[in-house]
Amino acid sequence: MITPSPDQFWMPFTANRQFKSDPRLLESAEGMYYTDTSGRQVLDGTAGLWCCNAGHGRREITEAVSRQIGKLDFAPTFQMGHPLPFELAERLSAIAPAGLNRVFFTNSGSESVDTALKIALAYHRANGQASRTRLIGREMGYHGVGFGGISVGGMINNRRAFGPLLPGVDHLPHTLDLQRNAFSMGLPEHGVEKAEELERLVALHGAENIAAVIVEPMSGSAGVILPPRGYLKRLREITRKHGILLIFDEVITGFGRVGEAFAAQRWGVTPDLLTCAKGLTNGSVPMGAVLVAEDLYETFMTGPESAIEFFHGYTYSGHPVACAAALATLDIYAQENLLQRAIELEGYWQEALASLQGLPNIIDVRTVGLVAGIQFAPHPEQIGKRGYEVFCQTFQNGALVRASGDTIALSPPLIIEKAQIDGLLERFTDAIKATA
Ligand SMILES: Cc1ncc(COP(=O)(O)O)c(C=O)c1O
Repeated sequence: MITPSPDQFWMPFTANRQFKSDPRLLESAEGMYYTDTSGRQVLDGTAGLWCCNAGHGRREITEAVSRQIGKLDFAPTFQMGHPLPFELAERLSAIAPAGLNRVFFTNSGSESVDTALKIALAYHRANGQASRTRLIGREMGYHGVGFGGISVGGMINNRRAFGPLLPGVDHLPHTLDLQRNAFSMGLPEHGVEKAEELERLVALHGAENIAAVIVEPMSGSAGVILPPRGYLKRLREITRKHGILLIFDEVITGFGRVGEAFAAQRWGVTPDLLTCAKGLTNGSVPMGAVLVAEDLYETFMTGPESAIEFFHGYTYSGHPVACAAALATLDIYAQENLLQRAIELEGYWQEALASLQGLPNIIDVRTVGLVAGIQFAPHPEQIGKRGYEVFCQTFQNGALVRASGDTIALSPPLIIEKAQIDGLLERFTDAIKATA
């Protein structure tokens, strides 16, 4: 067992002192399993961090990455180029919602979000509507950790230490409604009216001052909050009516999590911009992307040909090694039909999850595709304590789940087999009973 030196690594989104006093260290991974540093196998119930959709240790990706790094380790994409991002953009637009066929590359979900917000603002200016500067997010939304992302995001702990954030941001109400929707499998029945709040914000500020609305079609990080039936469609209608851009943040839902390449397709609502990352490279190399409607892109392509149209980009936008990883990943998704697999397994998954109802302290189970949120009543001593205990005990039992406050999220790799679903639920159920 390697004992980490406690001080030097400042761990992200982690209780550093607690972790370092009793670390959980993973050493290798293959298929559906991690192996920890004591040699124990741990069933991956979270696809890493919502990213390893094709499972771990995929040889095709490893080989593509090592070939690429030997051939072209880096090439700039500012006023220069190399073939791979052009090829990858074409491949992505082939699986994207219709019309979203222009692609801007980033290195993470956070960068994708900030890029999408900047495209929205710059688009309106290029389109002669420079007064459209307000951005609208949603309570309990998570859009990464850039200043744009935390401004439109709605998770208080991610915001409160960082000052006034971006000006001119409003939030729609979240759609979590335990009173009316608890234990409803699939999309909840109640809550479409929450989209009407957008009309209220339009009446307050004037549509001519609003640039964009950004939502996760399904909120992941705040604990798997599903869109009520008809809600996304209604948001689309209202944004379209008022000339406001709609951005779907699909960093979690992208690449098959809810049974289609993107949630936009599963729920039949096409945004103007769509952010993704994580599953794009199966988590193997950092990469993100923003898929953009063609007419938005064309609005930028005016003025002198020698003029740079959009002053934005990252040194590593379209990095050759990340592109190679993404292309190999998309091949696997296609060959193994993984982008549709969550639909195939959805019935079995839902039945397995329904069996949790009635276990101690569970107050809701939410599920769609191959994702689930299991919410516990908070411990009287402290919010989040129960979720953390269940997470730790499940890990002891040999499975990795993710705690967000008192909600446990499950999002296994899409290659999971039925027997492994049973195994995951068994380890989780035992942990719930042991910590009750
Ligand atoms: C919806 C959403 N947007 C953005 C992000 C940020 O992605 P990253 O951590 O790659 O910056 C995440 C990460 O979980 C996410 O779930």
